[in-house]
Amino acid sequence: ETFAGRTAFVTGGASGIGLGIVKALARRDAFVVIADMRTDHISRALKALASAGLGESVAAVELDVTDRAAYASMARRMDEEFGGIDVLVNNAGVGVEGPILQATYPDWDFGLGVNLGGVVNGLQAMLPQMIAHGRGGHVVNTASLAATVVMPGHLAIYAAGKAAVLNLTENMRADLAGRGIGSSVLCPGFVRSNIHEAARNRPAHLREGSGFAASEQALSMRETGSEWMDPDAVGEMVADAILADQLYVITHGEFANRMRERAEALLAATPVCEMQF
Ligand code: NAI
Repeated sequence: ETFAGRTAFVTGGASGIGLGIVKALARRDAFVVIADMRTDHISRALKALASAGLGESVAAVELDVTDRAAYASMARRMDEEFGGIDVLVNNAGVGVEGPILQATYPDWDFGLGVNLGGVVNGLQAMLPQMIAHGRGGHVVNTASLAATVVMPGHLAIYAAGKAAVLNLTENMRADLAGRGIGSSVLCPGFVRSNIHEAARNRPAHLREGSGFAASEQALSMRETGSEWMDPDAVGEMVADAILADQLYVITHGEFANRMRERAEALLAATPVCEMQF
């Protein structure tokens, strides 16, 4: 099975995991629209896609997923140009890292605004046309394994947004299925990308007054581990999951014990009850 005749829209599609997803969908005959706010990433990605022979299968648009008015006009444009999109990949996200006791409102607004708000805006802007065109389709939301376990570092705001994305996807799945739209949530572990540069996605008004300036500076120097997963491999997993309408896409097994411990700790704190839903 392929995506022939289908149009996909991938936010944060110009780098890292998003670009891996773009390649996998384009290789399987989709037409893919990359939506990203970094124009340098867009031009680099378009060059790479052209030299991979995928130039005819992709287009790129500049979009900040936190900008609701811009997202609404982008949705109108996708409707006019393609009769609506078929596959929505809400993948744009930012690393937001710092001690919770140092967090200020700008840090919350930046982290939740992109990592949760960007997904919300994608659904609000794009789902109406995906339902109206009647062809069915699929939504992929990028969360993280940080949504399922406490990871090392200072990730409270990041994990809160990602946990919301995981729960959102689980809870919306039945309603979307009723309209012929599948849903998947991608929970990656460590993947090679440019996420350490996420401070560059932070708008000036949310940079001012941030309590995370020092930790974001440290994050920007972080070396990407050579053993981290290739984003192209993640892209292939996502393309497979869409075709199989698989809910969970879990890239790494390293946190399985911690995931189990968490589930068991929740159950251990739960009263025994005869009546079960
Ligand atoms: P990346 O930084 O390489 O790619 C993210 C892209 O999203 C960038 O091109 C960036 O410009 C774009 N972006 C950021 N904010 C945006 C906005 N407001 N509007 C439009 N575009 C925006 O990072 P990566 O790692 O590929 O991240 C993709 C997703 O995967 C994110 O949601 C991230 O949280 C998630 N993730 C990444 C992991 C990793 O190890 N790399 C692990 C778990 C989750």
